[in-house]
Amino acid sequence: MSLKCFGEEEMANLREVIESGQLWRGMEGRFTHRFEQAMAAHLGRRYVYGVSSGTAANEAAVTGLGIQPGDEVICPATAPIFVSLPVFAAGGIPVFADVDPRTLIISTDGIEAAVSERTKAVVVVHLFGQPAPMDELLQAAGSHRLKVVEDCAQAYDCFYKGKKAGTLGDVTCFSLQQSKHITSGEGGIVATDDPEIYRRAVLCSNAGMP
Ligand SMILES: Cc1ncc(COP(=O)(O)O)c(C=O)c1O
Repeated sequence: MSLKCFGEEEMANLREVIESGQLWRGMEGRFTHRFEQAMAAHLGRRYVYGVSSGTAANEAAVTGLGIQPGDEVICPATAPIFVSLPVFAAGGIPVFADVDPRTLIISTDGIEAAVSERTKAVVVVHLFGQPAPMDELLQAAGSHRLKVVEDCAQAYDCFYKGKKAGTLGDVTCFSLQQSKHITSGEGGIVATDDPEIYRRAVLCSNAGMP
């Protein structure tokens, strides 16, 4: 398989970055900021923040929800470890829920069996480009007052009932690692409409600095 999927446009952008002397996220107006604004418009979400990987985006998303030590976060049993390790990093405890055997996506029955009085959130992974059944999952989560993280690492521009995956939960994370649908080599995105989740996600990703 040819990996030559980059061309003149990327070369021109790279040149602009190199000539600017600013390889980090830097100031407003630089590439990262422009990308965040473009992604926010594309997703129709209020806030988008670029981070160093999809795993970092999952950590920022869970931390953004305000998970406290001992809080439980339900994760799909089949999801890669990138999904559950960030829960530990946020101080929480991942609790694994069964998935629909046809799609390997978390099921409402799985959520119901995993929920406890300590559960604060559920991570829904839209897997292999398939959208999760968000209506029923949001209803199950809502009935237990759980926040919902959408992991869209494998589901860029994936639609559920005409709505984009990543626009339905409280907070969303994407990976930009090269095996994903869009890439910066490595990288990630966290997206939300909630200013408080955004504030905490940025603090988490940026060594406590706003
Ligand atoms: C569902 C899912 N979430 C999170 C990640 C983590 O992304 P990254 O490799 O950019 O840290 C991946 C990566 O494969 C993934 O498939």
